[in-house]
Amino acid sequence: MDNLNHLFERNREWARQVKEDNPNFFIELSEQQAPKYLWIGCSDSRVPANQIVKLPPGEIFVHRNIANVVVHTDLNCLSVIQYAIEVLAIEHIVVCGHYGCGGINAAMADSEHGLIDNWLNHIKDVRRLHADKFVGLSKREQQDLLCELNVKEQVLNVCNTTVVQSAWKKGKKLSVHGWAYSIKNGIIVDLETSISSREQL
Ligand code: CO
Repeated sequence: MDNLNHLFERNREWARQVKEDNPNFFIELSEQQAPKYLWIGCSDSRVPANQIVKLPPGEIFVHRNIANVVVHTDLNCLSVIQYAIEVLAIEHIVVCGHYGCGGINAAMADSEHGLIDNWLNHIKDVRRLHADKFVGLSKREQQDLLCELNVKEQVLNVCNTTVVQSAWKKGKKLSVHGWAYSIKNGIIVDLETSISSREQL
């Protein structure tokens, strides 16, 4: 069976390069993490959080799943949000979707995909909620629209978590943002859906 030695080689090469640029990098980072942002993004290999905003390790707290969905009862995602706010004191949460998302496109197709269809049902809900907006659009336009609407919906879901609600009640500074990334040109657009208070929500 093939081993993964090449990954260990790449890892050592990477660590060597980082240390060359900053000899104290790992020592300093091992003592604490103080990221300023929580990133909730898609698992898609083409959308690596740190790389696309050009930030080194230690700068972003990350949660990724298929199609960047924030489910009200997902203990995994909720725990990440709680830790980010209450322990790391993060003030910015970004939900970043991406155009050409396989999860979004699968949610729009009629074909069956097995277990994952249960997860994609959350995205189908978003489409049904905004059904009128899809009338008359091409398939591509519909996919792009659903990508954006899904981000906006997940921003609302983040805002409605007890963790975010109680942070705002306590007067904590906290903003939730919705972005969309293009895998075709590497550019992120702000969907201008940022929310910073219960009033705004
Ligand atoms: Co995706």
